[in-house]
Amino acid sequence: MELGILTEGINEVIATTAGACRKDESRGESESTTTTNTGNDALPLRPNAAPMGIFCRKGRIRMRVYRGTHTEENMRRNGWVVANVTHDPVVFVETAFGDIGADRFTEITHEGTTFWRLKDCEAWAAFRCTVLHVSEDLSVFELHPVAEEIISCEVHPHNRGFSSVIDATILGTRYVMFNDPAMLEKIRYHRDIALKCGSERERIAIKKLDEVIGISVD
Ligand SMILES: Cc1cc2nc3c(=O)[nH]c(=O)nc-3n(C[C@H](O)[C@H](O)[C@H](O)COP(=O)(O)O)c2cc1C
Repeated sequence: MELGILTEGINEVIATTAGACRKDESRGESESTTTTNTGNDALPLRPNAAPMGIFCRKGRIRMRVYRGTHTEENMRRNGWVVANVTHDPVVFVETAFGDIGADRFTEITHEGTTFWRLKDCEAWAAFRCTVLHVSEDLSVFELHPVAEEIISCEVHPHNRGFSSVIDATILGTRYVMFNDPAMLEKIRYHRDIALKCGSERERIAIKKLDEVIGISVD
């Protein structure tokens, strides 16, 4: 299978899907903006965004998504996902722990199905997905490319600060999910690199991460 904008290995992207419920609502805060699905059913759906890894190995494209996440529920329900490529570290933290406004999404219609992507992404790829395997903890999906677009060709020299925000955010999601204090030392390590090597955006991302974790890692 052609990988398109994705590359061999694990691609860390922002996955957009649509569903009936979002993270803020799970925490009891209501978000009033709704959007109507023009796909198979007519239920009001809200676009959702979350960082996810997309595995490209030997020409196959797959995702391993934890049960209990909105992304997993939405992919199983609607059978599609959009991979959004962005180098903005703040979006990774925002979407890992909370919801972004519906005004930050835009619609794509392809052969009668409406998908949502991030407005501010550098490239996106829409996929239909089929369930390969479901266990108690996670679902494995096979992804089939539908459409894609490169919006910006801006070059990003490698920045260790950006990479460390990604690592610290993944560790942060595990810390929040499993309340594992062993994660804190690793978060502190990546936090220091992000602050040393990153730009103002990395510093904003780390500040948001500190707030979510709720304790000082200094
Ligand atoms: C860079 C990055 C990659 C991630 N990859 C995955 C993944 O592949 N599968 C998964 O289930 N969660 C992954 N997560 C954690 C989810 O983003 C996190 O659980 C999120 O809250 C899910 O949001 P949702 O409920 O809106 O789907 C990742 C987090 C980060 C920061």
